[in-house]
Amino acid sequence: MCGIVAYVGSRPAYPIVIDGLKRLEYRGYDSAGIATIEFDGSLLLKKKKGKVADLISYVGNSEPQGTIGIGHTRWATHGPPNDINAHPHRGSTDRLAIIHNGIIENFSAIRETLTCRGHNLLSETDSEVLAHLIEEVMSGSSLNLFDAVRAALSQVVGAYALVVIDKENPSSLIAARKSSPLVIGIGEDGSYYIASDATPIVSHTKNVVYLEDEEVALLDLNEGLRIRTISNDIISPEVHALEMEIESIEKGGYEHFMLKEIFEQPQSIRDSIRGRINLQQGELKMSGIDDHWGKWSNASRILILGCGTSWHAGLVAEYLFEEFARIPVEVEYASEFRYRNPIIREDDVVIAISQSGETADTLAAIKSAKAAGAHVFGVCNVVGSSIARETDSGAYTHAGPEIGVASTKAFTSQVAVLTIIALHVGHRKGTIAPERFTRLLAELNNIPELVEKVLEQAGRIDSIAEQFSRAENALYLGRGYQFPIALEGALKLKEISYIHAEGYPAAEMKHGPIALIDDDMPVIFIAPMDDVYEKVVSNVQEVKARGGKLLGIVTEGDKEVASLADHAIEIPRCDDALAPLLSVVPLQLLSYRMAVLRDCNVDQPRNLAKSVTVE
Ligand code: F6R
Repeated sequence: MCGIVAYVGSRPAYPIVIDGLKRLEYRGYDSAGIATIEFDGSLLLKKKKGKVADLISYVGNSEPQGTIGIGHTRWATHGPPNDINAHPHRGSTDRLAIIHNGIIENFSAIRETLTCRGHNLLSETDSEVLAHLIEEVMSGSSLNLFDAVRAALSQVVGAYALVVIDKENPSSLIAARKSSPLVIGIGEDGSYYIASDATPIVSHTKNVVYLEDEEVALLDLNEGLRIRTISNDIISPEVHALEMEIESIEKGGYEHFMLKEIFEQPQSIRDSIRGRINLQQGELKMSGIDDHWGKWSNASRILILGCGTSWHAGLVAEYLFEEFARIPVEVEYASEFRYRNPIIREDDVVIAISQSGETADTLAAIKSAKAAGAHVFGVCNVVGSSIARETDSGAYTHAGPEIGVASTKAFTSQVAVLTIIALHVGHRKGTIAPERFTRLLAELNNIPELVEKVLEQAGRIDSIAEQFSRAENALYLGRGYQFPIALEGALKLKEISYIHAEGYPAAEMKHGPIALIDDDMPVIFIAPMDDVYEKVVSNVQEVKARGGKLLGIVTEGDKEVASLADHAIEIPRCDDALAPLLSVVPLQLLSYRMAVLRDCNVDQPRNLAKSVTVE
């Protein structure tokens, strides 16, 4: 939520910051802005409602020349998207400017105090108070900028990733974080980069430092990098090598990132399972579990936490864990879990699922689970993310950067990793039959090839999308392992095409949603030949009898559902437990093509942002 980028070095900051903002636009895209310190010592600020492209047109030929700059792309929380609420924000004088990602919870109280002291705040944002507060701290003391930022932040309640520039200190950036991510890049030429994630940094340097909560950093061309905590403890920066490649964050010839990411799934699933399946020995490897086996073997319950698509992956995992590991599972929306005084026990294992590893609700839920003594295991995609660092142990999904706002490859990688975990725990506990375990290992290993086969049907799915694209509603139905896929299919359609869609357990349809069905309503049945197939066939009949345009996602060779449905997409035959990895793919492609046909911005759907770092 909101992307922030900053640079200080010997090159003009503007192109570097703008390029970084384009890469971070998935985090928010309702306004954008940049501030630089120019060679004449002035603080130059340009900001505009709209996307980064609108900011670029607004700047036109009068590009800033300064070699230090900060930039921001906004996802509005306090105050609507407009030029004034766009970041950066200045203090009352023209001395400093800030960019901020997060929410300042006590901003009203700070704003009132500052207004009484004569500060004139222009925007409706919570962020602007930070610029004025730092200025106020500096004006009443002899503190330097670094110490003033620390002192100001000690008065702030809330979440922030923040960068400050000050025209009296034209070779320094000050950055701080609490509950919102910040990565610092160290250039070989002595320059520094700061960003919300590593994507704007990777083309400049692979040496990065992840700022931790309540740390404040000074990045100065003469003094180097210095980090202190807000309470003034000195921190030695730990430099990590980025493993990201620039190609992984480019579109690579695809029309949209989402399409590229859908087509990357054979490879991303391969990367998720690589090194974890040993077919020769008939074993799985998951050190994050083996190192804490006592917790897993004694677990009386598994609690799964996540939001959105990650929550759907958690629902698939519920079926997997209960079937293979015979441990009771509860799957919770992280946002609900933390506010309802949940019962958490020391013998609970909590699995937190998050692509970004930065979702504020999931992070907060983890903290309460940890505080109650539960063992918390993270399933994250972004290496070094807050959730990955907050959990007791975990497994990365290794899906590679996911840039399209609608999650696709991250979901299949989450499900692949959760499948491995459930099988591994079941195998070690002896709750899964050895023959099924061995067969599943081989089948899981072969899933990337089967996903490739599903993708070969993209052309056919495109023509079905043409027939459905004018619909205003859609219903997705599935049972058992396919119920979470019905929910995920509906979410994909809603978020990128703005068509109202609902996912339901197919049998539940009779208890209400069947009333919605008329001749125009697309009804998508996810009906592979699994152990609830016959039941689903009856549900298909019930819909068929009431009109509705039927699309069946069926197992290859299926005759029954395929003959009842108006359209059918086949997926290869596989174990029931692995079918979600295949059945979700046509639904991703269907949503994608329907959204494109409706002229929607697939990679940046309205009102959404990729990383939801506010609660
Ligand atoms: C949907 C989508 C969101 C995310 C949710 C959680 O396509 O992307 O629903 O799944 O915001 O995000 P993470 O997984 O980053 O915690």
